[in-house]
Amino acid sequence: MSQSTESHAERGSVSPAVTVSDVTKHYQLGGRVTALDGVSLSLPEGSYTAVMGPSGSGKSTLLNLIGGLDTPDSGTVSVGGTRLDGTDDATRADVRGTEIGFVFQTFDLLPRLTAVQNVALPLTFADWGRAARRDRAAALLGDVGLGDRLDHRPPELSGGQRQRVAIARALAADPSVVLADEPTGNVDTETGGEVLSLLDGLHESGNTVLLVTHARRVAERAQQIVHVRDGAIEGVERLEGDAPTLSVADDPTGGEN
Ligand SMILES: Nc1ncnc2c1ncn2[C@@H]1O[C@H](COP(=O)(O)OP(=O)(O)O)[C@@H](O)[C@H]1O
Ligand SMILES: [Mg+2]
Repeated sequence: MSQSTESHAERGSVSPAVTVSDVTKHYQLGGRVTALDGVSLSLPEGSYTAVMGPSGSGKSTLLNLIGGLDTPDSGTVSVGGTRLDGTDDATRADVRGTEIGFVFQTFDLLPRLTAVQNVALPLTFADWGRAARRDRAAALLGDVGLGDRLDHRPPELSGGQRQRVAIARALAADPSVVLADEPTGNVDTETGGEVLSLLDGLHESGNTVLLVTHARRVAERAQQIVHVRDGAIEGVERLEGDAPTLSVADDPTGGEN
């Protein structure tokens, strides 16, 4: 009786948090570069997915499109049921501010603001009072083990501490989807382990997590690995038997070009 109207959702109870359908993205810079070429994938709510692939394969481009930082040339991107392609900047900014937490490899903190001010920044755009913003930011910094560094500025923090501030900031608006682009790329192994533990915890508390990495042992923390090469999905590797099903709308393995 599986009258599956949605081919994406192979298990009825899991609705997709993120849907990318036949997305293509080109860049014009010293010649035309195809960064993504017909990519489709669907991330069930609460799933933990890693994207792996060599440098230049389109991983960051994919994450940026899902994060609403950029728009595709063709195809559709939906997060939490809202289409991000073909919408205005304000709509994308709104979804980004409420649904999505983004952790960048380079942390992207504002150097003149303190840790607590950096973390509170996303809440400036939401309906939060000043004291409540600071309280929430301080609590989040406490959660990532930086309760004693609230008033330090990024240059006064180690790389690993900066990355933890960046994670706290990504969580400020309580997003349902957390995107992390090589979050362990610029930190030492021990800090990398802490960062991954934080992501594990986000998954355990029900967030949808999408992690880009080129390191196999990092990707193995996830429930499934999406392998990307030359702007296309080569295949999806399931790591955990009872994980929600991730599906790719059209056959990604249909021939190696
Ligand atoms: N802003 C940009 N302008 C021009 N080319 C870009 C831009 N961003 C990415 N590219 C190109 O698109 C391709 C995919 O890049 P990217 O998504 O950053 O790959 P990855 O994150 O897997 O290393 C690469 O060939 C890269 O040079
Ligand atoms: Mg990248």
